[in-house]
Amino acid sequence: MSALEMSTKHLLGIKYITREDIDLIFSTAENFKEVINRPIKKVPSLRDITIANLFFENSTRTRISFELAEKRLSADVVNFSASSSSVKKGETLLDTVNNILSMKVDMIVMRHPAPGAHAFLANHIDVNIINAGDGTHEHPTQALLDAFSMREKLGDLKGKKVVIVGDILHSRVALSNIFCLKKLGAEVMVCGPPTLIPKHIKMLGVEVSYNIREALEWCDVANVLRIQLERQDIKYIPSLREYSSYFGIDLELLNSLKKDIIIMHPGPINRGVELSGDVADSEHSIILDQVENGVAIRMAVLYLLASKRNVIKA
Ligand code: CP
Repeated sequence: MSALEMSTKHLLGIKYITREDIDLIFSTAENFKEVINRPIKKVPSLRDITIANLFFENSTRTRISFELAEKRLSADVVNFSASSSSVKKGETLLDTVNNILSMKVDMIVMRHPAPGAHAFLANHIDVNIINAGDGTHEHPTQALLDAFSMREKLGDLKGKKVVIVGDILHSRVALSNIFCLKKLGAEVMVCGPPTLIPKHIKMLGVEVSYNIREALEWCDVANVLRIQLERQDIKYIPSLREYSSYFGIDLELLNSLKKDIIIMHPGPINRGVELSGDVADSEHSIILDQVENGVAIRMAVLYLLASKRNVIKA
């Protein structure tokens, strides 16, 4: 049974929320998914609430998804992009945020390249903070929308087998997915080249495979990640071509398995590297369902945190 309110005032990471929080987010997101499929997609839940979306790193899906979620809840929205801001002139993160908050902002959604940036801010400011990705650490709303999408296809995730494939070492999506799936009772495996699998990952209770066929034969769902070249200061793989020949998933490989599996990807996809285009566009793929569900999940998180903090006005 779901709790009635979130146990935390921020969403800093999946590590810091409970199984009951996840169930509450999912049941709330189910209601909001129904709302956004109506001809009139808007509800007044966050009317007179102002939310600042602070993106210190590039984003397509997360940024648009949060903005749509906020607008569908009738919030007032301001968007900030580091590349066109006074951060370029040397302003600190805390000064930037305090200046924005003094304009009567009620909640902050932030993506930042530094792991822990959100936890640091949470110690210094009083409004709700939602982590939209902090470096290689966590991306909690991505993990929630991933698990919600798996649950739509498979039902209860207890005992379901999920493999996360690719650049685990640099992936905030991998870490948040592991925390979320383990809290929901799923079995989790990671698969990739040894150089891109963290040494002590088994301490999180996951299996490790270095063989893509073995991993795909094992799983019900493969969540496939991009190689994050922008976070790699040294060479972890000889070339993308070699990575693709050992770990890339194409239709021939999928069709040779003994069962059908679900293919997921958080985006952006590098077609022809981790997934062939025909797999990304095939009936195995629920990639666009993930994107659709992202709006409902983010509406749920915004609504529940605003309710928790009495930000919602009577
Ligand atoms: N999945 C994801 O975080 O995508 P963006 O980087 O486009 O937001």
